[in-house]
Amino acid sequence: MKPDVLAVGPAFVLLPKVMDEMRRHFTVHHVSDYPASLDRDLGERIRGLATEANRGAKRDLLALLPKLEIVSLFGVGLDLVDLVAARERKLPVTNTPGVVGREVADLAIGMMLASARQIVFADHFVREGKWKQGPLPLGRSVHGKTMGIVGLGEIGRSIADRAVAFGMRVLYHGPRRKPDAPYDYASDLVAMAEESDFLMVACKGGPETRHLVSAAVIAALGPGGTLVNVARGSVVDEAALIAALKSGALGFAALDVFENSPNINDEFLTLPNVILQPHQGSAARETREAMGLQVVENLRAHFEGRPLPSPVKL
Ligand code: 8YV
Repeated sequence: MKPDVLAVGPAFVLLPKVMDEMRRHFTVHHVSDYPASLDRDLGERIRGLATEANRGAKRDLLALLPKLEIVSLFGVGLDLVDLVAARERKLPVTNTPGVVGREVADLAIGMMLASARQIVFADHFVREGKWKQGPLPLGRSVHGKTMGIVGLGEIGRSIADRAVAFGMRVLYHGPRRKPDAPYDYASDLVAMAEESDFLMVACKGGPETRHLVSAAVIAALGPGGTLVNVARGSVVDEAALIAALKSGALGFAALDVFENSPNINDEFLTLPNVILQPHQGSAARETREAMGLQVVENLRAHFEGRPLPSPVKL
């Protein structure tokens, strides 16, 4: 008999190819959104949970699943998974590193270029007929500039490697120096922001990094600086960010994540010096399919008694 798996996530995340593969191996119960409650009989049958990073698995959901054996996360961010509750139940947790890093890094670089070279603004400029009245105001170069990266994990590292190809100097900040990283380590984030032209936020979310990019960091980045966030909205003090973008104390921002998605602060919509993206870092078909198949592969490995392909250290 196939094990019962609860799959949590909308159809644009858990793609048909992924769901078909999951159904080949499991009896799948699919809910698009995070379930506040579950039919008790169903809850007691579920042995595997596949859930996407933006919905996660909190203690309340785990409590509805007494027979649960594994949490297989679609995505890399663990901020919405209750790892303490998982550890208490000795539940293995897996995620989908490998493909996500390079895809998110591509978007981060794209957002940096779109900001510096005014790609979004220039598109509007042409569409609105302004080109006929005069040339586009000049943008900014990225080559020869300094990029500071907050969090040199898989995503940060992929951003750094790409920045080098653009002729940029790379610095990074995190809780510790990475001996294998060929980039300069900055133990002080404010000091790194002062040196940076582009500050890329690529660290994990959650209470440890909440408002790590504080008013002081934003002020240090300054009027010529650009903040790019592809991590989690919680990492940046959003009120301070909006105030700095309004006053010009910060030059520009390009944001894929917000404190309250998708209901973002309306003030962002009126600011000309910010580029807004709908949390689409990993949203390329190839990558989303690969992530989904990795979710299924982790579940299969568990139920077939094989080593888990991508376990999270608990
Ligand atoms: C996805 C993510 O946006 O990997 C993560 O942590 O946030 C993303 O890749 C998400 O899992 C899909 O909705």
